[in-house]
Amino acid sequence: MDYSRKIAERQWNLPDKGELESRREETYIDDIIQKDHLQRKLLENLDGVETVFDGGAGSGRFSILLAKKGCRVTHFDISQPMIDKAREIAQKEGVLNRVTFVKGALEDLSAYADRSFDLVISFDAPISYTWPNQERVMGELVRLARKKVMFSVSSRLGSLPYLCNPIQKNQFILDEQADDPFVRWCVENRDSMVHDFIFRREQAQRVLADGLLGGQREIDEYERGGAPWCITYTFLPDELEKILQGFGVKSIQLSGPGAYGRTVPRDILVKLMNDPEQKQSFLDFCYQFDSNPYVCGMGKDNLLAVGVL
Ligand SMILES: C[S@@+](CC[C@H](N)C(=O)[O-])C[C@H]1O[C@@H](n2cnc3c(N)ncnc32)[C@H](O)[C@@H]1O
Repeated sequence: MDYSRKIAERQWNLPDKGELESRREETYIDDIIQKDHLQRKLLENLDGVETVFDGGAGSGRFSILLAKKGCRVTHFDISQPMIDKAREIAQKEGVLNRVTFVKGALEDLSAYADRSFDLVISFDAPISYTWPNQERVMGELVRLARKKVMFSVSSRLGSLPYLCNPIQKNQFILDEQADDPFVRWCVENRDSMVHDFIFRREQAQRVLADGLLGGQREIDEYERGGAPWCITYTFLPDELEKILQGFGVKSIQLSGPGAYGRTVPRDILVKLMNDPEQKQSFLDFCYQFDSNPYVCGMGKDNLLAVGVL
């Protein structure tokens, strides 16, 4: 039974998903850093690109940016609330005529012919959420690309620190008074999360070995009618590179958006974000540091690969 697709469908179709997703950079510093990195890489790779397929495009963080740059974009996602939000933003930005919205699952891209788009992107882990189909889905996305692919997937080495730091998100809250529900939850539960924390070495070793976050617990929650987080496959850098090479992708560059930022304490991060000049030079340096192959696995959540066909 292919639970991942069903779980994704239910989880991402929760009614407030589009709205919450579109506000991420107002709320969390790690999202500011990650978006800045992905956006720079994207803008560096647009030479000769007229058509783009964005797989798991969410509320349009990148599809709308690309449309504003003159590309014709297919915005493909499993979630209606995400598509509704993206359409609203595209209309506001005056680019509705350059974006085609398609509701669908990445597990089935059979409607698209080989090499239909100059560039194929999938950012912030949609591929990882298609476990156990992640490799096949990646191959299908590569099949659609004529010139380049850019994928950011969940990072195994980047995710493992979460297992020893239940308050990791607190480090990245921009405004602790914000009324965002997850900010409120993080602030209110901080002390109990520390107090109740137990390091589960076996669990960490298992994730290190098989890369899988979630499983039976999510399936049980789904069966009870809940909308659990998607079972997520996390990649190692050399594994991702090898899979892409196997699909014929060349000149692969890997990076780990967020690796530098996670070393900085919250008080300093907030100070930097509130000073436009410091913020810019910090983000410039994060981009350089996080593009270094030696840290690419330690991105905050994601591992990014850029390659040519
Ligand atoms: C974390 S969001 C990232 C959105 C966007 N790429 C971005 O970076 O802003 C993940 C997106 O993947 C979509 N998604 C998850 N599983 C999917 C699947 N199996 N098929 C298509 N879209 C999926 C979700 O609906 C959500 O919009």
